Amino acid sequence: MTDRISPDGEIYYPTPEVVAQARVKDWDALAKSALADPLAFWAGEAEELEWYRRWDKVLDDSKKPFYKWFAGAQCNIIHNALDRHQKTGKKNKLSLVWVGERNEVRTYSYFALNRDVCKFANVLKAMGVKKGDRVTIYMPRIPEIVIAMLACAKIGAIHSVVYGGFSVDALQGRIEDSESKVVVTADGGFMNGKVVELKKIVDDAVRHAPTVETVIVVQRTGHEVRMEPGRDYWYHDLMKLPLATGVSATEVMDAYDPLYMLYTSGTTGKPKGLIHCHGGYMVGVYSTLKYVFDLKDEDRYWCAADPGWVTGHSYIVYGPLLMGATTFMYEGAPTYPYPNRWWHLVEKYGITILYTAPTAIRGLMRFGESWPNRHDLSTLRILGSVGEPINPEAWKWYHRGIGKGRCPIMDTWWQTETGMFQLTPTPVVPLKPGSATRPFFGQDAEILDENGGPVPDGEEGFLALKNPWPAAAITIYKDPDRYVNQYWSKYPGRYMAGDSAKRDKDGYFWVIGRTDDVIKVSGYRLGTAEVESALVSHPAVAEAAVIGVSHEVKGQAIYAYCILRKGFKESEELADEVKAHVGKHMGPIVRPEKITFVDSLPKTRSGKIMRRVLNARAQGLPEGDVSTLEE
Ligand code: WTA
Repeated sequence: MTDRISPDGEIYYPTPEVVAQARVKDWDALAKSALADPLAFWAGEAEELEWYRRWDKVLDDSKKPFYKWFAGAQCNIIHNALDRHQKTGKKNKLSLVWVGERNEVRTYSYFALNRDVCKFANVLKAMGVKKGDRVTIYMPRIPEIVIAMLACAKIGAIHSVVYGGFSVDALQGRIEDSESKVVVTADGGFMNGKVVELKKIVDDAVRHAPTVETVIVVQRTGHEVRMEPGRDYWYHDLMKLPLATGVSATEVMDAYDPLYMLYTSGTTGKPKGLIHCHGGYMVGVYSTLKYVFDLKDEDRYWCAADPGWVTGHSYIVYGPLLMGATTFMYEGAPTYPYPNRWWHLVEKYGITILYTAPTAIRGLMRFGESWPNRHDLSTLRILGSVGEPINPEAWKWYHRGIGKGRCPIMDTWWQTETGMFQLTPTPVVPLKPGSATRPFFGQDAEILDENGGPVPDGEEGFLALKNPWPAAAITIYKDPDRYVNQYWSKYPGRYMAGDSAKRDKDGYFWVIGRTDDVIKVSGYRLGTAEVESALVSHPAVAEAAVIGVSHEVKGQAIYAYCILRKGFKESEELADEVKAHVGKHMGPIVRPEKITFVDSLPKTRSGKIMRRVLNARAQGLPEGDVSTLEE
């Protein structure tokens, strides 16, 4: 039976089958009790996991906004993600099924994954990596990225994964800021039939990073790469060493100890390294995945994000393993070599849950329903979306064309900072296409105006979260003040998300987009400042300003406005050259869609670029109030 739709076509009710299977049948009841006592709800969730030492207090808020969840507890996320499964029937269950772009298949039972993680943990220790040290991971979507992350966590080292689609400058900045001792990478990766030369990029990036002592290289493509004696080692050589085998103890961590850092773009300046911790993060990610995607033992779950972003951290790697589930990972792009690549994989591997981004859905939608229709997608039972608002047209196509009207779509709104879902339905919640519905259990959200006053339903304002939640980033690496100022200062006692949104009369939230200088290109979060500094690093560019302009598939595309230095003349060739320059230095996703050469940029008298004016110009709209514009 397909979902029941309200007569006006606005609301999609779950089918009786979905309700029958759902872990939580009465959403309202649980939401009500969790909201009445969030700490009791979270303590109950935490009880489902194992701890070395129980907490003294569920939440210590004496130093807020530095909320300390499960204060006094000791744990390690790896104990719950791997160690405890070795003692149960999960030991022989598949933890990871991986398919390469060239159709290779690799599978890991919980036993095998644990074995390799132990080995690599021993290797890292032998390299001198200790609790609290940072390790940068820059890899393609292959199983070793998961192994490297988990091995770091096991020994208490802090992993800093840099997305493999970034390039030299982005990587270098992140290695430098994190002061990593070790970089784990691969010779290259396959993408759309081509080799991405990751090792070469690492060589360029570490040239100026004095903290890096060791580079460990996984062989993926097999093409020739330069190995620097005394610094570079092959992963497969290290894993064969006698020191790699044998038990590797899981480090006992305080719940509040850092697990990883992840750089993300903010309002101004350089990307910031958000820190997530072992205890609270573990509970939040486990609980949200359990309720929202309703993971069951027999599921084949596929989060088609990249491990290099928070979605991958929480919901490819940690969440599914905490659940003892089977997680599926595919190396390549959705449309290579043909637009049925994903549908083929769903059919062949019996995927039951598919979690992806609106940009991917829109990209696949362009090719029409004949591609998915060639495949048996009947194993699917729940779909998901994340990364940007999903337009109702794409939502409906996903629902009908892929889910065949049977599968509810979990539109999950959250952020690198939140670590876990914040606004999201669960399978039994009636859905409205384009709305991430309501706050997760224990959470409450509101729409506020500039001064912190409430905004009436139906009107746009700033999205703020009312209650602390366990998977929140605990700070910004080396910059706690920025953590306080950026998120917790605008509205005292509230978390300011940086998004604008509306709430409707039914209490459903509709996220509109960022209110700051963050651009979402194909769901990837980029800061205007980073793109602008890449632009001005080209010898012809004196000044630059970039904006995000709506794009049919990517959600937003980067438009750049550049002032040329004296002696350079504008031309299409120069625009292409500047685009290529940005792509080479920052990565292909950062490459501007369009470059316009201008004589001046609209600035306020204090010198701040008025992006609003550029946006209006790009869309051919009136420029609005320009009274603060400099002459
Ligand atoms: C946007 C990604 C609408 C939002 C997990 C947020 C969304 C930013 C949704 C965080 C959604 C994420 N609907 N917008 N379901 N999910 N966003 O840190 O603007 O890469 O602030 O985390 O993505 O991006 P980030």
